[in-house]
Amino acid sequence: MTHRTQVAIIGAGPAGLMLGHLLHRAGIDSVILETRSEAYVVERVRAGVLEQGTVDLMRESGLGERLDREGLRHEGLSIAFAGSRHRIDLSGLTGGRAITIYGQHEVVKDLIAARTAAGRPVHFNVERVVVDELASERPRVRYVQDDASHEILSDFIAGCDGSHGTCRSSMPAAHTQTFEHEYPFGWLGILAEAAPASDELIYSCHSRGFALFSMRSPTITRLYLQCAPDEDLSQWSDDRIWSELRVRLGTEDGWVPADGPILQKSVTGMRSVVTEPMRYGRLFLAGDAAHIVPPTGAKGLNLAMADVRRLASALVSFYVAADDTALNEYSGMALRRTWRAQRFSSWMTSALHRVEHASGFEHRRQLAELEYLVGSRAAMTSFAENYVG
Ligand code: FAD
Ligand code: PHB
Repeated sequence: MTHRTQVAIIGAGPAGLMLGHLLHRAGIDSVILETRSEAYVVERVRAGVLEQGTVDLMRESGLGERLDREGLRHEGLSIAFAGSRHRIDLSGLTGGRAITIYGQHEVVKDLIAARTAAGRPVHFNVERVVVDELASERPRVRYVQDDASHEILSDFIAGCDGSHGTCRSSMPAAHTQTFEHEYPFGWLGILAEAAPASDELIYSCHSRGFALFSMRSPTITRLYLQCAPDEDLSQWSDDRIWSELRVRLGTEDGWVPADGPILQKSVTGMRSVVTEPMRYGRLFLAGDAAHIVPPTGAKGLNLAMADVRRLASALVSFYVAADDTALNEYSGMALRRTWRAQRFSSWMTSALHRVEHASGFEHRRQLAELEYLVGSRAAMTSFAENYVG
């Protein structure tokens, strides 16, 4: 069966869903294809920190209501090291900007509800997605759904299919370059039914390794421990996880995170990837399909949202004003922001993580770096500007 649309969107993560939503609001038709089931996409536990720009985009596009009701606005965060916690006043240092804690799966839920209300549902559980004719004015997507073959003819394809998707690898190798860096760390993340014992996030640099205290709601805590990239989760009983979190996050004033039943556990490796350019012919990449950042700077979801905001507005200029200037500028502008986020995320990763077999010198150097950060208004301002986006 052959379908026609203006923009074929591959992937129903935050990038693909937000792009479809913004295009729909501008009267541009799109079809969204997703290989996973709706339940999988909605339940996947991932990011939780929304920058001000992402919150503004949700509000401006009519998705602010639940976010404003349930999101937790944070005006600061703490960096812990050598037994003490140091608060960084994000809002005070950035003219009132803040971050909002609102789970990525909540963002995805809101976007799917908007898509469904618009009468343009997402095609879940599709298989064998192939994109081709990318250099022509009629790029094509082929896929299989319920054993039937389908074809979509569109004006543009948006590759929003994440780091393991098919779009990036469909760009001819001679036209692209991928820059990669693997970190020798992973994060063991848990979601726990426990009231957050601190109102704000705590990033801790400890001699046993990095740990992060975060949350999802007034009753759910989200915590991470630095581990090996291929850490065996079966070696981590709930008791071992809590005692390690207490050691790495606890401070001399006796503060430790409150514990409770663990609802979910996972291990994620850390890497940086950037593909340049983010476009080939009529295929445009957005979000994790084009770039991955280590989670330490909380930038991945926010970069994905910044990409699709830019891409949607460029497509509107193309359709409404027959102007392709913004489409031609998309890759260069998005890459500038991406490299800024890579710089900050990799700096934060190296400032806070323990490198195995590193000398005592290295840990002392880290402590000096962190002491400078929390002792200098200029350093804290630079940190806050980068963190809130
Ligand atoms: P994805 O969310 O990966 O969506 C891509 C979609 O495409 C998926 O649903 C996938 O199933 C689908 N797909 C794949 N291949 C195909 C295909 N061939 N055809 C059709 N569909 C396909 N970011 C932050 O900003 N803040 C944080 O606090 C943060 N914390 C994180 C914590 C963890 C543990 C992890 C793993 C990530 C974190 N991130 C964070 C990163 C953030 O989750 C990602 O950057 C974000 O999901 C990117 O969205 P996306 O839509 O580009 O890609
Ligand atoms: C999270 O809440 O999941 C989270 C917070 C901050 C990060 C990464 C993840 O840097």
